[in-house]
Amino acid sequence: MRAKQLSLLAEDSQLGLLPTAKTKAKDKLGVHGWTKFYASFSEEFVNKSIDAMGLQDDSVILDPFVGSGTTLVSCLKKGLPAVGIDLDPFACLLSRCKVALDFDRDKVQKILKSPASVYSDEVDFCDETYRFFSESCIDYAAKVIGSIKESIKLNGSKNYLDTILQDEKGEYDSEVVALTSLCIAAESSAKVVRGSNPTWYRKAKDGEMDVVSSIMGPAQTMSEVIMSDLSDLHIYASRRNIKIFNASVEDLTTELLGIRVNFIITSPPYLTRLDYIIKHLPNLLVLSGFVPVDIEGARRRMIGTPKIVNKSPSEERWGETCNHILESIRSHGSYASGSYYIWTYVQYFRSLFFFLERVKFVLSQEASGILVLQNNTYKDLFIPVSDIAVEMFAYLGVDSKILRRESVRININNLGKGRKGKEGKKEHTEDVLIFSN
Ligand SMILES: C[S@@+](CC[C@H](N)C(=O)[O-])C[C@H]1O[C@@H](n2cnc3c(N)ncnc32)[C@H](O)[C@@H]1O
Repeated sequence: MRAKQLSLLAEDSQLGLLPTAKTKAKDKLGVHGWTKFYASFSEEFVNKSIDAMGLQDDSVILDPFVGSGTTLVSCLKKGLPAVGIDLDPFACLLSRCKVALDFDRDKVQKILKSPASVYSDEVDFCDETYRFFSESCIDYAAKVIGSIKESIKLNGSKNYLDTILQDEKGEYDSEVVALTSLCIAAESSAKVVRGSNPTWYRKAKDGEMDVVSSIMGPAQTMSEVIMSDLSDLHIYASRRNIKIFNASVEDLTTELLGIRVNFIITSPPYLTRLDYIIKHLPNLLVLSGFVPVDIEGARRRMIGTPKIVNKSPSEERWGETCNHILESIRSHGSYASGSYYIWTYVQYFRSLFFFLERVKFVLSQEASGILVLQNNTYKDLFIPVSDIAVEMFAYLGVDSKILRRESVRININNLGKGRKGKEGKKEHTEDVLIFSN
């Protein structure tokens, strides 16, 4: 048996003592402090969850919403094989960089200091990049990306990103560090103004913001921070066994992973209509010179997307609680409840159900997992996302149970100033749910 079953898990005193999943200031240090990542969970929570599950050394761990790579760092330190998936190419790169322990300092410095690319003229960014960055930034980024591409041997039909994400031996660790440094530096040089709504942004007008004219200095500084933090993890290099896929959970199959999974630990996107893709706009615009990035396509596939992409009706198999909540939103008298908001919720629960179904299929027999889910409110209605997940799991024949409910203050203020007085003050609850196949 790979992992303990739910009946045993529920009685397990270690699980009852899990620390909060929420990140505190101390959790945002070292590799987790390179850039702000909204809604990450704490490494301590992942460490203790894995310990409590009594997994064997060869148990495969999956985080299908890997985000900033917290799960992968924990598995790296424990020497456990792990797979991460994320729809967002920048999240995948950031996660990959956290395990890039075999970088060569001179090589990274050379790429960022004097990128010598024969093909930099052929590095093409998406159209938006040319609107949001100065010519000199684009010119430097093209040289860096060109020289990175020149040192990568494409693996079969894989594109550049997939080649570095699935490079388990760390052959391209230096390139990964240089590229990640460049993409993080893009945050301070993009001419982006954000509004009160997390999906809203526009190009800054002349003189409206202090635009750093060069991306080169910030990229070099970032690379020094990254290399220093990675050096602290170098002792774990020999046991690294980590793969990352830039894909949507819709595509999650055992064929994609090439392996059956023993334990899943993850936090799916919340119901806050947060747009992870727009949050990473500067990073993605620069990354588009390395691999084609379909920003609008990714936004549409993102769980919890604020865009209405599918108006199929809700389904009975999502359970009584879910259908009751959806009906209450549909018939809520407030503005746009029945015409817009209802569809964002129907879409969310459709993708949540679909994800839980995928989970059932990729888990090996007797495998288990932990989900961190945030409950939410719509006007005066409480939306118990985790109770709904338990009902959905029951329909799918997966045993699950809410282990803990915790009150959290959601903090999406880093997305826009105007939200501070509104959602910024809302109280939500965060639940830890355990399940076993
Ligand atoms: C709550 S965050 C995960 C944070 C992560 N636990 C960490 O510690 O950084 C959710 C992630 O799900 C990703 N995501 C959203 N929709 C997705 C989809 N359809 N398939 C895969 N990933 C998706 C987002 O890009 C985001 O990185």
